[in-house]
Amino acid sequence: MLEKENSMPKILVTGGAGYIGSHTTLALCEAGYEVVVYDNLSTGKAEAVLPPARLVVGDLAQTEALDRLMTKEKFSAVLHFAGSIVVPESVENPLKYYMNNTNNTTELIRLAVKNAIPRFVFSSTAAVYGMPDTAAVTEDSPTKPINPYGRTKLMSEWVIEDTAAAHADFSFVILRYFNVAGADPKGRIGQSTPDATHLIKVASQAALGRRDALHIFGTDYDTPDGTCIRDYIHVSDLAAAHVLALGHLEAGNPAGIFNCGYGHGYSVRDIVSAVKEASGVDFPVIESPRRAGDPPALISDPTRIRATMNWKPAHDDIHAIALSAYRWEMRL
Ligand SMILES: NC(=O)c1ccc[n+]([C@@H]2O[C@H](COP(=O)([O-])OP(=O)(O)OC[C@H]3O[C@@H](n4cnc5c(N)ncnc54)[C@H](O)[C@@H]3O)[C@@H](O)[C@H]2O)c1
Repeated sequence: MLEKENSMPKILVTGGAGYIGSHTTLALCEAGYEVVVYDNLSTGKAEAVLPPARLVVGDLAQTEALDRLMTKEKFSAVLHFAGSIVVPESVENPLKYYMNNTNNTTELIRLAVKNAIPRFVFSSTAAVYGMPDTAAVTEDSPTKPINPYGRTKLMSEWVIEDTAAAHADFSFVILRYFNVAGADPKGRIGQSTPDATHLIKVASQAALGRRDALHIFGTDYDTPDGTCIRDYIHVSDLAAAHVLALGHLEAGNPAGIFNCGYGHGYSVRDIVSAVKEASGVDFPVIESPRRAGDPPALISDPTRIRATMNWKPAHDDIHAIALSAYRWEMRL
């Protein structure tokens, strides 16, 4: 806390022009941090980086530029969001994912250690759990990713853990996100990627006529209505979890891995209903065959983050999530 009062800690946010990074940048600025975003704008948007945060346009692979930035700015932490995130693309083009996720994360960690940046917060994913045997997964559930995307993120986790084990002055929080959805409730930012695959975003696009229909992939799962169940977390609650994670490390607490979800789920049909209600549009829905690799249900056990960081979600309401996503989509 003393450090915070004397001078605002300066945070490097990679991928801060993207969906989750921009919401977290906003939350960090509101909490009084100074934020520098480093982003190549491959999927992110410069206008998503709201002042007073500063945007430096650059690629993680430009390690010399990144090194110079770290040397100049003297960051107290790195929050690492930048990466490639589309699962089917990772199957078709795995090397893109190993390069951008695993390699670039490894380089970023190398530079953080070199520049004596003591804290690292990493965007991981429920995809590291693969097809879990139980619906609600804890951080100790087996990690068995079933696609290159999940594997590149799990490998990044290992690099972080092994680095921290070898360097006493490097600590981390790994956050494993479940299904991130919604937009800033004040409407300042939202998810802008045009070809996003996230269900609530795609349903909002269908409601606005930007897609002909919404596909439900699989209606014969062993779930109450036959469609897959997921744990949807509002992006602003996730952003708040990052601010807590940073405070957790600043207070000298141990490194750790934390699930980020609400601990309960909604089916695809529930989501379709929520977006139809939010939009007032009865958009067409096409029932399609299952996709490979979709577990019937994937729900977090968020006990650890609640108990350790006192994380209290403020937006655990699927109708509010759908409404914020739809309102943002209308503005695009
Ligand atoms: N969206 C989800 O539901 C979800 C779920 C689990 C985990 N995650 C993780 O959260 C992180 C952020 O995801 P998002 O949904 O905000 O995606 P996004 O595509 O909106 O954001 C990623 C950002 O990183 C930037 N970027 C990508 N490669 C870069 C590079 N080489 N150099 C510099 N910048 C680069 C992009 O321009 C973009 O601004 C990712 O690491 C992703 O794996 C997302």
